[in-house]
Amino acid sequence: MKPPVEIISAAAIAARIEDLGRDIDTRLPPGPMTVVGVLRGAFIFMADLVRNVPRPMTCDFLAVRSYGDATVSSGVVEITRDISTPIAGRHVLLVEDIVDTGLTLKYLVDLLGARGPASLHTCALLSKPSRRRIEVAVDFVGFEVPDEFVVGYGLDAGQLYRNLPYIGVITG
Ligand code: IMP
Ligand code: MG
Repeated sequence: MKPPVEIISAAAIAARIEDLGRDIDTRLPPGPMTVVGVLRGAFIFMADLVRNVPRPMTCDFLAVRSYGDATVSSGVVEITRDISTPIAGRHVLLVEDIVDTGLTLKYLVDLLGARGPASLHTCALLSKPSRRRIEVAVDFVGFEVPDEFVVGYGLDAGQLYRNLPYIGVITG
């Protein structure tokens, strides 16, 4: 099996996350902040991102399963693990690995938005704008990528490749 071909290097990711962290700290209103990561894909990105946001925060996670085959989102999202703390009155940043059709993020924004956060912003390491099927605001985006299946830095193909330090594409 050939290793995935690198399209975004570990160094480029690290540099971009420094900018994102600064941007987030500037644009989010002051006050108590909760960062919510979407498991499992966002775990590495979130770990690096929060270390670049210099303000007090709490971190929580939720896990989702999207029905359908492995590489195409069906839009039916099932929460398999919810966050364990209330977010009412808090400034929430929802962190995703990648926004593809947008269906998962839209579902999560509606879900968390209904819980009365003081503000709700979204951040994704990657976005594939050409694949969007529903309009959803991604407030902070690391990189836009073309319509190719990408892996690494938390993103998987069949649960593999999450530990790659870079973003790559599988060439077969
Ligand atoms: P969406 O609901 O179509 O936006 O898909 C969101 C989820 O699908 C992401 O959180 C990923 O878990 C997964 N996904 C979409 N595109 C890719 C990809 O290129 N590589 C790995 N996972 C992906
Ligand atoms: Mg995901």
